Amino acid sequence: MIKKDIHFSVEVYDSDEALTNGDGDLLKAARHATEGAYAPYSNFLVGAVAILTNGKTVSGTNQENASYPVGICAERVLLSCIASQYPGVAIDTIAISYNNLNGESDHPVSPCGICRQSLTEYEERVKHPIRLIMSGMQGEVYIVEKARQLLPLSFSASDLE
Ligand code: THU
Repeated sequence: MIKKDIHFSVEVYDSDEALTNGDGDLLKAARHATEGAYAPYSNFLVGAVAILTNGKTVSGTNQENASYPVGICAERVLLSCIASQYPGVAIDTIAISYNNLNGESDHPVSPCGICRQSLTEYEERVKHPIRLIMSGMQGEVYIVEKARQLLPLSFSASDLE
């Protein structure tokens, strides 16, 4: 038996003011995008904005439904928009923010499990890592270099071969 260690680094910034190279603007766009969320059931408004390798910016928000499981997270709305509008184009970075109308929005949240699976498949599909910037409406910012780092030992298309 051997033990494999799986680990990755998260960059932690005190606030958006510490960000460089357009990351701060992308995060601000994600914060602004939360206003387009439809989340009357959770009151948890999520915005995700991507910058693509072709320079285009695309945004997504969570869209809920009275039949709760029908709702879709901001990240997967975003990936569906990108894959439809710009098929095959890689994503450089996605900023994700949220506005919790029932509480604080002052710490980073990271994508749910289903979104991690979707983000990972998009990375594999276009053979390009997706940087993720995560933060609330204020406070600390987390950055990871690849979405797949958030889903170790993941199931993927190669397992079906
Ligand atoms: N949600 C997202 O849009 N992205 C996440 O990463 C986590 C959760 C949404 C789903 C639901 O509409 C609301 O936030 C509360 O879970």
